[in-house]
Amino acid sequence: MPELLTGDVAENRNVSANMKRSHFYVCPICGNVIHAMGEGAFSCCGVRLPALEGEAPDAEHGIRVEDVEDELLVTVNHPMEKGHYISMLAYVTDSRLQMEKLYPEQMAQIRFRRMGRGMLLALCSRDGLFVQKM
Ligand SMILES: [Fe+2]
Repeated sequence: MPELLTGDVAENRNVSANMKRSHFYVCPICGNVIHAMGEGAFSCCGVRLPALEGEAPDAEHGIRVEDVEDELLVTVNHPMEKGHYISMLAYVTDSRLQMEKLYPEQMAQIRFRRMGRGMLLALCSRDGLFVQKM
């Protein structure tokens, strides 16, 4: 309905749904995270959500990956304070997504089941989405 009112109709061009083309939407009010395999129009708390634009990690949001047994240990050396923390880490390949919510005071570190080539995503509660190919 909101897209009808604004005239911004989202055409879904990702019908084949390669998950590396996934879009993430974050509500600025409640922090809800929405994942979509294609384009879409999503709202939360009465706010229309734009798709996040992923950036290459900077010095403060560097994503480190280590092999641990049959898993990947993914770490972001970043503050984990209320108001500024890594709120989500995700591992995306062509056909799969692993996503884990993080909270202030815990380490920004997750073990993901190895799935092959893909992308690692780190969502900072203040600075946005960072994406690293692997
Ligand atoms: Fe940050």
